[in-house]
Amino acid sequence: MRCYHQAFLLCMVFTFFSLVYVFNQLASTLEDGAEWNLNEQGTPDRRAHDTGHLLRKQPGLVGLRDRDRKSSGSEVQDHGDGRSHLAVVACGPRLEETLVMLKSAVLFSLKPLHFYIFAEDDLHDHFRNALDSWPRTVQSKFNFSIHPITFPKENANEWKKLFKPCASQRLFLPLILKEVDSLLYVDTDILFLRPVEDIWALLSQFNSSHLAAMAPEHEEPRIGWYNRFARHPYYGKTGINSGVMLMNMTRLREKSFKNDMTTVALKWEEILMPLLQKYKLNITWGDQDLLNIIFHHNTESLYVIPCQWNYRPDHCIYGSNCQQAHQEGVFILHGNRGVYHNDKQPAFRAVYDAIREYTFGENMETSLLQPLEASLQTTSNTYCGRASHLFTEKLKRSVASAQRDATTPRR
Ligand SMILES: *[C@@H]1O[C@H](CO)[C@@H](O)[C@H](O)[C@H]1NC(C)=O
Ligand SMILES: *[C@@H]1O[C@H](CO)[C@@H](O)[C@H](O)[C@H]1NC(C)=O
Ligand SMILES: *[C@@H]1O[C@H](CO)[C@@H](O)[C@H](O)[C@H]1NC(C)=O
Ligand SMILES: *[C@@H]1O[C@H](CO)[C@@H](O)[C@H](O)[C@H]1NC(C)=O
Repeated sequence: MRCYHQAFLLCMVFTFFSLVYVFNQLASTLEDGAEWNLNEQGTPDRRAHDTGHLLRKQPGLVGLRDRDRKSSGSEVQDHGDGRSHLAVVACGPRLEETLVMLKSAVLFSLKPLHFYIFAEDDLHDHFRNALDSWPRTVQSKFNFSIHPITFPKENANEWKKLFKPCASQRLFLPLILKEVDSLLYVDTDILFLRPVEDIWALLSQFNSSHLAAMAPEHEEPRIGWYNRFARHPYYGKTGINSGVMLMNMTRLREKSFKNDMTTVALKWEEILMPLLQKYKLNITWGDQDLLNIIFHHNTESLYVIPCQWNYRPDHCIYGSNCQQAHQEGVFILHGNRGVYHNDKQPAFRAVYDAIREYTFGENMETSLLQPLEASLQTTSNTYCGRASHLFTEKLKRSVASAQRDATTPRR
């Protein structure tokens, strides 16, 4: 009998240790799992912080950090805060041009802004230092975050090569800035001549199927590029220009896009690479061509805005062909083809130089507008120079109200 007892006890002890062992193993695999999960989500987060995510050096930053962290969770940020969210991608020699663009944004906007600056790593400090050197009163109008250029790993090189370095980054903004609801993307060579909140307000004019707003590539089909040369589908009669692109990214991320590659509609993150593969030998203007193809098949999703929101040399180079600008003036100037830096279109360059040379705090009428009007008069030997009263028409009013705002004591 005792023999049985001992055997039984031994069995119990053995079972006990086996159970302890099993539990131990289980617990450690669970821990591993938790760690692995954390890493998956933690890495991009940490990177965002390292690269200056919401780096506004002001007193009370610690408290603000906490608030930031809460709002940068998976929840999409609510934009009922009256802020306009502006994104730009700057590579190579585009630092100064980008800063002049951002300067035009803060000069005329009366509402707060958030800048998302995507740039090559060696430009990050330059951006941060430049923006931090702006006067405090100016800095109080905006926040900014600086981000590295990133592409989906599998095809990083292919994306980088497309068009100019970094230009296709914009296609990935809805996937990178997952917590941002809506965004105004602009090229580095655009200048705001009226407040950013005015174009931002167009988001509220979207009907339920609109998810992006862009202006046509051309007004005049006889000189249009897409309708004469494109070897791929494009939007509408003359295509669209993507230099100014207002997006509801929540909708972009949700939408399934019709396309000519699969019978099923594809999500934004699924459509880009097959599209590039199919059309890479036929596209000329890189990511803008891909956007044209996408909206060709999904016309109901695009809200077409008038040319004065994206006024380029093409609108005046052979005579003025942007009708809406004749009624209300130019709202956003887009100096593509390098016209801010060469002598081909002195009227465009004059606007760029006037904004670049203006010193914050000086009177905008006498130190920005008047010198600009004087230098525009010397450009009347060019077609665009002759149309240049359109450049200052809206600008005059923007300057007047910004000047009024600056002299109104704050509550
Ligand atoms: C900048 O961010 C801080 C913290 O989130 C916020 O309190 C402040 O209002 C923001 N400023 C602007 C101009 O958006
Ligand atoms: C590319 O262009 C060629 C020549 O115009 C055309 O035959 C071909 O169908 C185009 N490819 C695609 C995918 O549209
Ligand atoms: C963007 O679209 C979503 C989904 O339709 C909507 O909830 C949100 O309010 C829109 N954002 C803006 C700024 O209109
Ligand atoms: C929204 O407007 C576009 C034209 O811009 C149109 O094609 C589409 O049918 C409209 N959607 C709805 C739901 O009315």
